[in-house]
Amino acid sequence: MNSKRSRRRFLKQTSVATLAAVVGDKVPTLFASDRLTPQLSIEQRVDQLIRRMTLAEKIQMVHGVYRQGFIGYIPGIPRLGIPELALTDGPAGVRHGPGTAFPAPVAVAATWDRSLAQQYGAALGAEAKAKGQNILLGPMVNIVRVPEGGRNFETFGEDPYLTSQLAAAEIRGIQGQGVIAEVKHYAANNQEAERLKVSAEVDERTLREIYLPAFEAAVKDGKVGSVMAAYNKVNGTFSSENVHLLKDVLKDEWGFDGFVVSDWGATHSTADAANNGLDIEMPTGEFFGDKLMAAVKEGRVTEATIDDKVRRILRVITRFGFLERPPEVGPLDYRRQAEIGRRVAEAGVVLLKNEKDILPLDVNNFKSVAVIGAFADSAASGGGGSARITPLNPISPLGAIANRIGKRATFRFLKFVAGSDLSKSDPATTGAGLLNDATELAKACDVALVFARDFESEGVDRANIVMGMQQDELIREVVNANPRTVVVLNTGCMVLVHRWADAVLAIVQAWYPGQDDGEIIADVLFGNVNPSGKLPITFPKRREDTGITTAVQYPGVNGLGRYSEGVFVGYRHFDKEDITPQFPFGHGLSYTTFEYSNLKLSRTQIRAGESVAVEVQVKNTGSRDGAEVVQLYVQDINASLPRPVKELKGFEKVSLKRGETKLVRINLDPRSMAYYDPSKKQWVVEPGTFKVLIGSSSRLIKLTAQFNVVS
Ligand code: NOJ
Repeated sequence: MNSKRSRRRFLKQTSVATLAAVVGDKVPTLFASDRLTPQLSIEQRVDQLIRRMTLAEKIQMVHGVYRQGFIGYIPGIPRLGIPELALTDGPAGVRHGPGTAFPAPVAVAATWDRSLAQQYGAALGAEAKAKGQNILLGPMVNIVRVPEGGRNFETFGEDPYLTSQLAAAEIRGIQGQGVIAEVKHYAANNQEAERLKVSAEVDERTLREIYLPAFEAAVKDGKVGSVMAAYNKVNGTFSSENVHLLKDVLKDEWGFDGFVVSDWGATHSTADAANNGLDIEMPTGEFFGDKLMAAVKEGRVTEATIDDKVRRILRVITRFGFLERPPEVGPLDYRRQAEIGRRVAEAGVVLLKNEKDILPLDVNNFKSVAVIGAFADSAASGGGGSARITPLNPISPLGAIANRIGKRATFRFLKFVAGSDLSKSDPATTGAGLLNDATELAKACDVALVFARDFESEGVDRANIVMGMQQDELIREVVNANPRTVVVLNTGCMVLVHRWADAVLAIVQAWYPGQDDGEIIADVLFGNVNPSGKLPITFPKRREDTGITTAVQYPGVNGLGRYSEGVFVGYRHFDKEDITPQFPFGHGLSYTTFEYSNLKLSRTQIRAGESVAVEVQVKNTGSRDGAEVVQLYVQDINASLPRPVKELKGFEKVSLKRGETKLVRINLDPRSMAYYDPSKKQWVVEPGTFKVLIGSSSRLIKLTAQFNVVS
C-alpha cells in the first residue's frame, strides 16, 4: 500500500478530536486548528487514551489474534487512533516474505564490532519497517551454555559482556529506524530439548552474572521497547509468570517501562501471568482474552493491572510515533541491505588457522584447485526455525570461487554427499566410493578447498557437535592426499575438529554468512578482505572438555536442568579446569600481525565504586592493512569466593593501516570488578588486587597490569 493512501485511511478512521488528544506535541499541519491543545507529555497522552478505552478494548490490546501472513498481530483501535501492531521475526532477517538473509547473529558476535552490530540492527529495522512491521522479534541474547544448543547460531556467544555490548548496539540500530526491538528469550533459555517445559535451575548469582546482563544492557543501554518471556521455567516457574524475573528484576529493579510479550504459546495461566508481569499473550488470547475479562470481573486481576499493561504498550508506541505513523509498506533498497549483510559477515569470518601462509590464496601460485563438499554449491544462508529467512539472491561458494579463479587455473568440484541422518543417500553405497573420488581429486590438484557444514535449528538440539555426513572422514582423506588443504566451516557454533585440525594448513570459520556466502568466503580466501573476526565461543578439543557433561545439567532429569556449573560457562570453565581448548574464546588470526605495548592504568589504587581507565598501544607490524580486537579481561586475585580466572570486561576493534599505531582506551567501571551477592541483593567490589589482562584472545595475553581496591 502506498504511504499516502495508508495515511488517508488512518486519518479517516481517526476523528480530529481524537487526534488532538493523541498527537500531542507533534501536531500535523493538517490539524493546525488544534494547535491550541496544550502540549502533552507521553504519559499524559497515554493516560488520556486509557481513560477513553473500554475494558474490552484494553483486553483486546494485551493479546494477539491470528491474521494470515503475520507472525504476531494485534488489531488497532481506530476510534482512538491506536494503530495495529505487527510483530515479525527476527534476529537474522525479517521473516515477512522473502528478504535479505543476513549473517547469523553468531557472525555478528564474531565481528566484536559495536558499530557493525548497530548497522546490522539498522538494516533489520529498515527492512521490518519497509515490510509494514513495527515490532521485530530480536535480538536473541541467550548465552551459549550447551554446545549442542540448536539455537546457538542465533546468539552472540558464550560471554555476557560481549553479548550485552552487541545487543545494546543492535537494539539502538533497530529502534533508530522507528521499529520496536523485542529482546529474547527472558530468561535462561539455553536449550531446545524439552524447551517448552524444562526448568532452568539456576542460582541467583549465576543468573545475575551470566544469564541476565544482556537483558539488563538491552533495557538500560539499548532502551529496548519490548522483552519476550521464554518458553522454559526458571527455578520452577514459567518465565511468562515469573514474578521475580518479570516484576522484581526487570520492571522494578532495572526500571523497564516497556512491555513483556510471551513467546508463542508460552503463556500458561491467566491471573498468575497477568499479576506477575506478563503484558501480552502471543500469538492468540487463550489466557488473556475472555479468561482475562472473566478474571477482572471476578476480581482476580484488577483493572489497574490491566491499565498498567496497556500503559506500557501505549507508552512505547507513542514514544515511537506510531500514533502519527501507522505501519505501512514502503520501498527498500535491497542492494544496500545486502551490502550491510556482506560487510558484517566479512568482519565476522574467523581465521582459525593459517600455516605456511597458504592464505590468502594467490592464483599465480597454483594451476589447479579442487573444491570439495556436499554444500559448496549452495549458500549457507542461515540456520532453521523462526530465524530462517528465504534469501532473495543466494550466492554459493562454488560460483563465487569459480568466478575469482576464472581461466587462471583449472577448477574442479566434487559434491560429496555421503551418509548420515541428514542425508538421503546411503553411506554404504556412496560414502566409500566418494571418499575415493575426493582423494583422487585432491591428489590431482595443487590446492584443495573443503567446505564443511553443520545444521542448527530452533526446535531441536544437535545430536552432538560432530559434523555429520562423514565430513571429518572426508577432510582427513583429502589432507592425506594433499597437504595443501584449506577447510571452510559453515557452522552455527563450535564443532569438533581435532581429527584433522593439525593436518590441514588453514581453517576458516565462516558461520552462516547469509545470502552472499560465496562472495564473502571468496573475498577472505583470495585476500580482498583481511579476516578480523574473533571467536565468541570456545572450540573444545573433546566434547567432555566442556563444562556441560552430565544429564543432570543437560538435557536435565525429571524436567529440571541444573546449572550446577554456576558461573563457569564457556571459557570460564576451561580456565578454571586449566584445559587447553582447540581454539580459545577470542581467538582469530589475521593476514597481518599486531604488536601491543605501553599498557597504562590511570590509577593503581582506587576505592570500591571507582573506575580505572586503561590505555594500550597497538601497532600493525605486518605488510597489510587489517583490524585487531583488543580484549581486556579482569581477574580478581584475592576473591573470597570462587570467581572466574578472568572475565571479558572491555574490547575495542581497531582498524590499522600497515605500520600504523593506535592508542586504545577502555574504561573499567565498578561493575567490571564486581560479583553479585544474592544475600545483599547487590553487586560487590571486594577490596584486594585486580589484574588487567590485555589479549589478542582469552589465551593469548600480551600485557598485564594490576591495581588495588581499598576499602
Ligand atoms: C518461537 C521462538 O522461540 C521465538 O524466538 C519466535 O520469535 C517466535 N516463535 C515467533 O516466531
